Amino acid sequence: MNYARRTTTNPPILLHLLLFFAIFASRPLLAHYCSINREIDKISCPYRWQVMSKSRVYSDVNVLRPKEYWDYESLTVQWGDQDGYEVIRKVGRGKYSEIKREIKILQNLCGGPNIIKLLDIVRDQHSKTPSLVFEYVNNTDFKVLYPTLTDYDIRYYIYELLKALDYCHSQGIMHRDVKPHNIMIDHELRKLRLIDWGLAEFYHPGKEYNVRVASRYFKGPELLIDLQDYDYSLDMWSLDCMFAGMIFRKEPFFYGHDNNDQLVKIAKVVGTDELNAYLNKYQLELDPQLMLLLEVCTELLNKAMDPAVMLFDTQIRSLWNSRKPWSEFINSDNQHLVSLEAIDFLDKLLRYDHQERLTAKEAMVHPYFSQVRAAESCRMRGQ
Ligand SMILES: *[C@@H]1O[C@H](CO)[C@@H](O)[C@H](O)[C@H]1NC(C)=O
Repeated sequence: MNYARRTTTNPPILLHLLLFFAIFASRPLLAHYCSINREIDKISCPYRWQVMSKSRVYSDVNVLRPKEYWDYESLTVQWGDQDGYEVIRKVGRGKYSEIKREIKILQNLCGGPNIIKLLDIVRDQHSKTPSLVFEYVNNTDFKVLYPTLTDYDIRYYIYELLKALDYCHSQGIMHRDVKPHNIMIDHELRKLRLIDWGLAEFYHPGKEYNVRVASRYFKGPELLIDLQDYDYSLDMWSLDCMFAGMIFRKEPFFYGHDNNDQLVKIAKVVGTDELNAYLNKYQLELDPQLMLLLEVCTELLNKAMDPAVMLFDTQIRSLWNSRKPWSEFINSDNQHLVSLEAIDFLDKLLRYDHQERLTAKEAMVHPYFSQVRAAESCRMRGQ
């Protein structure tokens, strides 16, 4: 991406160079799943074809809309002239083939709540380098901003992010790269925008997607166990990782060194019993090496129960089964951000089984946000 400034008029505009994501180098083989070709695989894998996954919500949006809505390949881009814009800073690069998808998605979502607005599509006359021009957001870097946020601020911004996610999901689109870097916040204006739709994709029920999406720390278990018929609920996992990082002041919350280790880091917190239940439900099998890693991790977990940290935990323990006590993450630095509602919200999203996670719409009615909702309806009445 480039940050650019319009040379002729104000305000400054964020210009983003479309050369995103050349980062998908390699992915270790994590799981053996049954092949796309269900006919051939019926013998070696008799059940997987029966437990195909489908989104609980908005599953038919693209089925019901005309082909032009989701068929981004047939988009003809009207390139504007780059004159009048000045590139300030390059901030990202990606593959040309993904431009059409990103543009189509941004056009479909334009005007939606907290979705970054695409203002112009331009190309350098000489190099033909395409750029997307977006509304400007006076963002504060999350590494600087997040440690200053209050309990209420976090509730407010997560709620704003849920609006954007519910909107894009309702329009048949998964973002697939939710993370702090892609959330622009102008704290003075209390304005949040979800940006970088370069990995976003249209959801079609039954379609098998590439699992090499999202950034490692925010990858849902479905990606790590190679479940390809995932859906919008992937974004809810990523959001919850972000949320956990914010309330526990631990960024990133799941700090894996590679994709295998990422699942191990998740299992250390969420437990291995539920991971096994998840694998069984969708008839997936882990790579033996990863299985071994997880077994070691289970043993360590069983040994690591420290009676000193159990006190606070007895209050909220009933909310989980064989999960790591959240009290282990609470310290003097973050305790003002952690409440029973926060933990309950966290827990309802941090589920291996993507179908069990709250949807964005369900999340928005959680008691954690009641104060935010009350303030909003008050503001609305005042208008
Ligand atoms: C951007 O935000 C910073 C503080 O967050 C503020 O000092 C600065 O004036 C803002 N700039 C604009 C152009 O609004």
